[in-house]
Amino acid sequence: MFVSDNLSVNKQGNLAIGGVDTVMLAKKYGTPLYVMDEDRIRRDCRIFQKSMEKYYDGQGLVCYASKAFSCKEIYRVMQSENMGIDVVSGGELYTAIKAGFDVSKACFHGNNKTNEELQMALEYGVGRIVVDNIYEMETLNRFAAEKGVSAPILLRIKPGVDAHTHNFIRTGQIDSKFGFALETGEAFDAVKKALAYENLELRGLHCHIGSQILDTQGFTAAAEVMMEFIKQLKTELDYETQDLNLGGGFGICYTEADDPIPYDEYMKDVAQVINGFCEANQIKRPFILIEPGRSIAAPAGITLYTVGSKKIIPNIRTYVSVDGGMCDNPRYILYQSAYDALVANKAGEPKTERVTIAGKCCESGDLVGENMPIQPCEPGDIIAVCATGAYNYSMASNYNRLQKPAVVFVSGGTDRVVIQRETLDDLMRNDI
Ligand code: LLP
Repeated sequence: MFVSDNLSVNKQGNLAIGGVDTVMLAKKYGTPLYVMDEDRIRRDCRIFQKSMEKYYDGQGLVCYASKAFSCKEIYRVMQSENMGIDVVSGGELYTAIKAGFDVSKACFHGNNKTNEELQMALEYGVGRIVVDNIYEMETLNRFAAEKGVSAPILLRIKPGVDAHTHNFIRTGQIDSKFGFALETGEAFDAVKKALAYENLELRGLHCHIGSQILDTQGFTAAAEVMMEFIKQLKTELDYETQDLNLGGGFGICYTEADDPIPYDEYMKDVAQVINGFCEANQIKRPFILIEPGRSIAAPAGITLYTVGSKKIIPNIRTYVSVDGGMCDNPRYILYQSAYDALVANKAGEPKTERVTIAGKCCESGDLVGENMPIQPCEPGDIIAVCATGAYNYSMASNYNRLQKPAVVFVSGGTDRVVIQRETLDDLMRNDI
């Protein structure tokens, strides 16, 4: 009935998340409101970790890709779950540090890290800096030499596997702003260069093939390509790769049309490829890192809105306007992403209408979704949009000077604010 198994209908007929009544939450904290189920986040972290244990003898680290949802509390949760993290900016890194996260378990990504960001990574002892290009490699080596340290690095490789086409193509991915290409020999040369730098410690390789991937084929194809490269480095350079970071991208269920693989299957298939390859080629098994973002944050979250006006345009469509929109969820206007929505205070009733849910921004494209099945609704009703825990808050904006909503975590039947709602004065914080 729901896209996520932490959602249910309670005795009052209201939608509950993690057992907490969403209509009560909307009243208590106001709308729009992001609500995230901390217990579900922790459960999914453990599913990935257990699969790493089961299929790869625990010789790996699951790193939460915090671009999906970043705030101090999520880093505290990750720290207490013994997770690693992926950060992609000084801002994410700083937030993690301020939350007390041990950044020796962080991977720092980005195709154009600034000098300040690289310095910061060295200063705070980031465990793995994922070098994207030669310019960055040279800069980082220089900064590390100035500090008298050795920078632990991985190299970002384009494995040439395009996960976004149905049939995986192994070429064509050269045209990406991220990383070193394999086909042209660029990646091989980058490894040679990295090994020659005195103040870089090349720990291994990284790849990431895409996002919202619903089966394992692309992942196993990428793992094979990376293992072939590891073999080439061993035979031609006598270099033994310690770490292989295979990135994130595990798909989730946004609507009933999505049928993602259980995450356990992913580790099973990928571990089989790597274990088999190492055995057949007498190669030491690398330490594996994976970086799930969406799969940990998205299903744990929902967004609550209050319905305002309803505009019925005969024979065309019905617009239901809510008090948020593209500012708190830009994914429809950016990618036409489909979501499941329901009226939280009528959650047990059948969805007999199809409506366009519109935001309140001064922009015709500001929609949460079109042709969405939903219960009949009227002004004052609470609409819940499901699976909004990833890339919603983290991509939110203040367009039209709207205030970013609060984020509430529920856990064990209780609720608490982890990010406060922005005030009108917050909007002017940096204005002169
Ligand atoms: N690792 C790397 C290097 C990445 O670039 C990403 C996502 C991840 C891990 C996590 O991927 P995930 O497990 O979340 O799929 N804004 C888009 C998604 C962009 C993803 C960018 N990189 C969206 O809203 O769909």
